[in-house]
Amino acid sequence: MVAPISEKKFVAKVFRFDPSKEKEPRYETYEGPLVPQMNVMDVLRYIYETYDNLAFRVSCGGGSMCGICRIKVNGKVGLACTIPATENMTIEPVDKDKVLRDLIVES
Ligand code: FES
Repeated sequence: MVAPISEKKFVAKVFRFDPSKEKEPRYETYEGPLVPQMNVMDVLRYIYETYDNLAFRVSCGGGSMCGICRIKVNGKVGLACTIPATENMTIEPVDKDKVLRDLIVES
């Protein structure tokens, strides 16, 4: 008998806020497959494509060339396209006081 393939999952608690429509920010929790080499940008894209219209910035798509995807993951600031995804993540904008929408802040 073949052992079942263990399927790892990520659970991401994500900061959500649209100041033009909402009075207070909130956190939404999303789940998805956690695969090798997956980074936080992949997680954000998965959430965008699978769940809803999460707002975040991406430009060069990876490799820390543009730096536009700066984000806070589990309390540490870094680039979403270079931070490895983990099983449990809290994903927030770099400055909650300057949020334009979700993870996008005024630059
Ligand atoms: S998207 Fe350019 S550094 Fe992440």
